[in-house]
Amino acid sequence: MKRFRLVQWALALGAAIGLPPAHAQDAQAGRQKAQACAVCHGPLGLSTAPDAPSLAAQPAMYLAAQLRAYRSGARKHEVMAVMAKPLTDEDIANLAAWFASIRVEAQPPQ
Ligand code: HEC
Repeated sequence: MKRFRLVQWALALGAAIGLPPAHAQDAQAGRQKAQACAVCHGPLGLSTAPDAPSLAAQPAMYLAAQLRAYRSGARKHEVMAVMAKPLTDEDIANLAAWFASIRVEAQPPQ
């Protein structure tokens, strides 16, 4: 009973501070989907291909906007158009959440 009340309280608090519902963007689902991206963008979003940008720690809003632009053709790139075409809005939100959640540490050059 006590536990039930706690859950209710947490849900109410989440709603009050405007948290999106858990399924709106799912970084773990994005991580699964991102296996298809790893050959160029690296398993943790640090690119392994010299012509591919790193995606780790970029803002989710930016990543999602780029993926939608490749999908629509507003941003043109042969490979990324093919990669983005089958993605749903949910896939894009999940992929963006995954790459944005990766922590990167910057260091000045030695
Ligand atoms: C075969 C290599 C390859 C694969 C696989 C690939 N990408 Fe890319 N990606 C690229 C290249 C090259 C670019 C740079 C394109 C350009 O100049 O616009 C890019 C650019 C991007 C960008 C824009 C980044 C920025 O900083 O503007 C995003 C976002 C992105 N890719 C996401 C993905 C996702 C998500 C997947 C998997 C579903 C994926 N890519 C799979 C090669 C790849």
